[in-house]
Amino acid sequence: MDFKKEIDINDLPKHIAVIMDGNGRWAKKHGKMRIFGHQNGVKSVRETSEAAAEIGIKYLTLYAFSTENWNRPKKEVDALMTLLVHTIESEIKTLNKNNIRLEAIGDLENLPKKSYSKLIEAIESTKNNDRMTLILALSYSSRWEIVNAVKKIAEKISKNEISSDMIDQKLFSSFLTTSKYPDPELLIRTSGEFRVSNFLLWQIAYAELYFTQKLWPDFRKDDLYEAILNYQKRERRFGMISEQINIQK
Ligand code: FPP
Repeated sequence: MDFKKEIDINDLPKHIAVIMDGNGRWAKKHGKMRIFGHQNGVKSVRETSEAAAEIGIKYLTLYAFSTENWNRPKKEVDALMTLLVHTIESEIKTLNKNNIRLEAIGDLENLPKKSYSKLIEAIESTKNNDRMTLILALSYSSRWEIVNAVKKIAEKISKNEISSDMIDQKLFSSFLTTSKYPDPELLIRTSGEFRVSNFLLWQIAYAELYFTQKLWPDFRKDDLYEAILNYQKRERRFGMISEQINIQK
C-alpha cells in the first residue's frame, strides 16, 4: 500500500513527537555494540525529518536524550554526545537547503560544552528557515520541565509580577520549554514498548498515541506515513460525542 498517497494533506497533524526507541536491541540483533544502533538511528532521524517536511508537517520533536539517559554507562553517554555533535555538524547544510529550522528543548546547559556550542551554532544558523521546525529533546524530561515551570511561576509571584489567580492552563503552558509550539496531535513510539517515559506529559494530553514494533534504526519514511494515516482514521473527540465533532467539521 502506498501510505503517502492515501494521506489527506488537509488533515495533517501540525506537530508530531517521536520516542525513538530500540537502538540497543537493534545493535544486539546485529551482534554489535549499542553505539552501532545509535549510529544507524541517525539515518532514521534523517528519513523521518525528510518525510515529515515533504508532506507538510510543521513541527517534529524527537526524544534524543532523556534526563534519565545520563545514568547510562559513561562510555555510551560520551558516544551519544559525540554522535550528536557530528550529526549536527554534518546535517546543518541539509537543514538549510531544505529550509528546516533546528531547535532544542531540555536542560541544555547540562550538555557537554562542545555539544552545547555546536547545537547553539546550528540553531542560530537555521533560525530563519520556516518550512518545518525540527525540535530535539536533549537532556529533557517532562517532570524536570514541569517542576522548572512551577519554580519560575513561584518566582514571578514572589516578585509580584503575577498573582496566583492568574494561573490557568494557558499561563502554565507559557512557562514550559514548548511554549512556542502547538501541542503534538500524534505521538509515535518505536520498538514495541507501550510507555511515554517522561516525555511531554502535559503536552500530549489529547495526542493520539501510536506504537510500532519497528526498532528505531529500521524506521523509514513509509513508517511515518503509515502512522499519519492511522492517525487520520481515528476520531478525535476531545471529550465530546461523535455528532458534535461532525457538526464542527
Ligand atoms: C533509544 O534506544 C535511543 C536513544 C536513547 C538515543 C537516540 C539517539 C539517536 C537516534 C541518535 C542521534 C540522534 C540525533 C538527533 C542526532 P535505546 O538505546 O534505549 O534502545 P534499547 O531500548 O533497545 O536499549
